[in-house]
Amino acid sequence: MVRFIGGKNKIILDLACGTGILSTFIPNGTANSKIIGSDLTFDYLRLAKKRQSYVLLTNSLAEFLPYKDNCFDVIISSYLAKYTNLSAMVKEHWRVLRKDGIIIVHDFTYPNSNLVRILWHVYFRILNQLGKVITSWQEVFSNLDKLIQLNPWVNNLVRELDTIGFRSISKNYYTYGTSAIVRAIK
Ligand SMILES: C[S@@+](CC[C@H](N)C(=O)[O-])C[C@H]1O[C@@H](n2cnc3c(N)ncnc32)[C@H](O)[C@@H]1O
Repeated sequence: MVRFIGGKNKIILDLACGTGILSTFIPNGTANSKIIGSDLTFDYLRLAKKRQSYVLLTNSLAEFLPYKDNCFDVIISSYLAKYTNLSAMVKEHWRVLRKDGIIIVHDFTYPNSNLVRILWHVYFRILNQLGKVITSWQEVFSNLDKLIQLNPWVNNLVRELDTIGFRSISKNYYTYGTSAIVRAIK
């Protein structure tokens, strides 16, 4: 993901940056890139600010971005796609990205293989049990498995990107089909 972003003087939006974990993998400053973070949850932004030197952090929705048209070179998001209104998000991506700008979207997926599905359900059962003990995990993992299972975000996103005019759209699955990355160019 980070290799794909590479290049000089890029303006990068980490959409739904949360507490800033993903942004820390982007080599800020070394290639004169500027990172802007954006998230719905204000309290996460406080933590993100401590973790990474963003040029700007905004408390905003992915479906309604407070940025000018054609201002970003790259938009990345991790673990957002399953929560968002993809049609509205893609329209905003199209509006705020520069020509030849890149989007990279990463999230969990429900695996295809029956064997992996069995292991996947066992894994989530363990996480849900742990959530009963570690209360801070409860909110994060409650219904996450059902959300992933019921949300075919990869194909929906590819369709939305294609409809609005993105090119070179690709989708790749990782870790036995339990996550995916969709990339596209404006
Ligand atoms: C699982 S966290 C991932 C955070 C970060 N991307 C990471 O990889 O660590 C999901 C984040 O999406 C944010 N979020 C959910 N729906 C959103 C929306 N519609 N617009 C903006 N942010 C949203 C939440 O506030 C949360 O910070």
